[in-house]
Amino acid sequence: MGLLDIEMVPIGIDDLMPNSPTEHNVYIRLSADRFVTLYKKDSIPSSEHLHKYKTKDIDTLWVEKSAMITFVKKNVTLASLASRSATVANNKKAALFVKATDSMFKQIEYCGMTGKTYEQSKSLAESFFQYAQDNQDVATLIDSLNEFDSWIVRRSILVSFFSVCIAMELENIGTTQIKSVSVAGLLHDIGLIKLPKNIVTRPLDQLTNEEMQIYKTHPDRGRELVDGIDAVHDDVLTIIHQHHERPSGSGYPMGINKSKIHILSQIVATADEFSDLLLKAPHRPRVLPIELAMTTYIENNESPINKSISRAFGLALKKRMF
Ligand SMILES: [Fe+2]
Repeated sequence: MGLLDIEMVPIGIDDLMPNSPTEHNVYIRLSADRFVTLYKKDSIPSSEHLHKYKTKDIDTLWVEKSAMITFVKKNVTLASLASRSATVANNKKAALFVKATDSMFKQIEYCGMTGKTYEQSKSLAESFFQYAQDNQDVATLIDSLNEFDSWIVRRSILVSFFSVCIAMELENIGTTQIKSVSVAGLLHDIGLIKLPKNIVTRPLDQLTNEEMQIYKTHPDRGRELVDGIDAVHDDVLTIIHQHHERPSGSGYPMGINKSKIHILSQIVATADEFSDLLLKAPHRPRVLPIELAMTTYIENNESPINKSISRAFGLALKKRMF
């Protein structure tokens, strides 16, 4: 079988451990369908050699599809260990969360969602749950996330984190439900990876009506990606599907009103809207400081969000602002 017959998937250059043997062949891409071997399995990339490629702005390398899960697993494990460590700084934890989420999303994009990938999503979401339980400083997390490029990755982490923070403050929400908002927060926008890149990467107000209709299919597509995996809780499917529904009935894809929107979906929708104020995007280079975001969104009486969720969110944030 030639290289052209093998399906290649991207990994970050930082996924390779300098000075230790590679577990798989690693390739560099010369053009859309042309790859050459950079490191053969069991060869040892030196840090100088890797650095040389990084200085040439090469941050993506390629492996055979079957190898990707190894890299994702390693990144998820590192994020999980860091989240439990009292000695790892918060910005380092955020960097590991981003790396693990980015590699997992790439795996879903290139290899689809499988039971194993879903288990990894759950593990990663547990790391954010752990971070939220430790009442870590929220401003450091936001600042650290804003240093990274991928908008969907940054947002998914913050939405998962905020969703957990809110759920922990609400009465009648148990641990199983908190875990559901944690994983659904991480995967809420996963349907976007199935949409054309030129729709997802542009500001919404620059999309044509037709493109906007396509964009609005992402909750359906997200639910389809996860549906059918044995370990998925029904609440997770519901949240992914309902995260753009709004109490007035003006949301999508169904346009249902408040009485039909699951409380857990309302939690994730709130976390999603609030994250929008705090995270940089290509069309929004400046964001609000968290104190101002709180005043304009959480404490604003005209806000359409559920009052008990808004109160819980305000309490959760105050505990994490130093
Ligand atoms: Fe969304």
